[in-house]
Amino acid sequence: MNLTSRSVSRTAIVSTVLAASLGATLIVTTSASAATTLGAAAAQTGRYYGTAVAAGKLGDSTYVNILNREFSMVTAENEMKWDATEPNRGQFNYTNGDRILNQALSNGKRVRGHALLWHQQQPGWARGLSGSDLRSAAINHVTQVASHYRGKIYAWDVVNEAFADGGSGGRRDSNLQRTGNDWIEAAFRAARAADPNAKLCYNDYNTDGINAKSTGVYTMVRDFKARGVPIDCVGLQSHLTNGPPGDYQANIQRFADLGVDVQITELDIAGSSQANGFSSVTRACMAVARCTGITVWGIRDTDSWRTGENPLLFDGSGNKKAAYTSTLNALNAGGTTVPGGPTTTPPDPGSGSCTASVSLNPWTGGFVATVTVTAGSSALTGWRVTTALPSGTTVTGSWSAVGSGTTGTVTWTNVDYNGAVAAGRSTEFGFQGSGSAEGLSPTCTAAAAREAR
Ligand code: XIL
Repeated sequence: MNLTSRSVSRTAIVSTVLAASLGATLIVTTSASAATTLGAAAAQTGRYYGTAVAAGKLGDSTYVNILNREFSMVTAENEMKWDATEPNRGQFNYTNGDRILNQALSNGKRVRGHALLWHQQQPGWARGLSGSDLRSAAINHVTQVASHYRGKIYAWDVVNEAFADGGSGGRRDSNLQRTGNDWIEAAFRAARAADPNAKLCYNDYNTDGINAKSTGVYTMVRDFKARGVPIDCVGLQSHLTNGPPGDYQANIQRFADLGVDVQITELDIAGSSQANGFSSVTRACMAVARCTGITVWGIRDTDSWRTGENPLLFDGSGNKKAAYTSTLNALNAGGTTVPGGPTTTPPDPGSGSCTASVSLNPWTGGFVATVTVTAGSSALTGWRVTTALPSGTTVTGSWSAVGSGTTGTVTWTNVDYNGAVAAGRSTEFGFQGSGSAEGLSPTCTAAAAREAR
């Protein structure tokens, strides 16, 4: 008797079909157990499901509840763009980018950086530059921003929207393009040097199907791979109406065949066949092993940049739409597993209890705090420790945890290797700072495991 089965590393519902017509052959098919959130459903095949986040909405509890429940990847909608991060030449402002990054990391999500260089949303000072002055300002921008976020970004959109619409298949005219055709590879090289662990992506729109523009991008990526220019991924924005083009999957596949990952980076779908459109997009990505994840461009219809088109998965009140259900079902239906297998842990609610205590090594004007996290009577998969720092005290460094900020109330989240703590056992992390941490009394809560990065 022949047994055909697909091995899965998760609980599987096994349905057996005795196919009489095949004589003695027993066909066993498996499908993933139905996950109930987008992030958990995507994680079953090693993918992520992400959303764009606006810093100004992090105080909206409906928004944050959906964000924390459903999504495993976050893109800053505007806060990491050039005009936001370098409003004056050489003066960098990471306040809102960091808020989004820390909210994501401390809730077990990863972050796509968006976008280092783009012809739009440039600060006024850069728009006024040209030639070698602009080139060096642009490369310095890439270096500074990628260095600031070094080690914390899953993938960067290094260059956004550099190809022309229409049939030319060539570059878009822009101040950056006028500095020389090699500006894109110079940006990728600078990004690699600044953050060697981030995947480096080229991101564009109207490149979803096979057309002159996407073929232009394809030719550039093939050339970069042949010449050793560092590039790891291609982002298809996928701002769509009704659904993807018929050759969407074939287009994803041809990029994957060049040896880069493909990510759907800004998905939103207007029009009356939206629900079908979302499931078609999901199925196409799931069918290509190197299509590693999907990001929607906002949470609720009212959060969308496409005002009035209602192109997202949740309505203005935060209710799940038909498009949500069709997406979740398509993710749960399974597909190819990304290379390396399911590397992400689906968001879980966290279980168990924990306590935290601090051992302080103070001196005049500074201190080192070592915090011991101890699991209660059941094991931890992850943990969060909150410390209320007195005013005037600033964290200057830390190890074995990720802090949400450097002053005031700081939440510390486990890193990949110390989130799992057996019942009754302990792990340590620490931080140093200026000022005083006298009388610090940290509190601990069990949390979801952070995703492997
Ligand atoms: C959009 C934002 O959603 C808007 O808030 C902003 O006003 C303009 O930019 N392609 C991109 C994104 O790469 O950065 C754009 O985001 C949407 C199109």
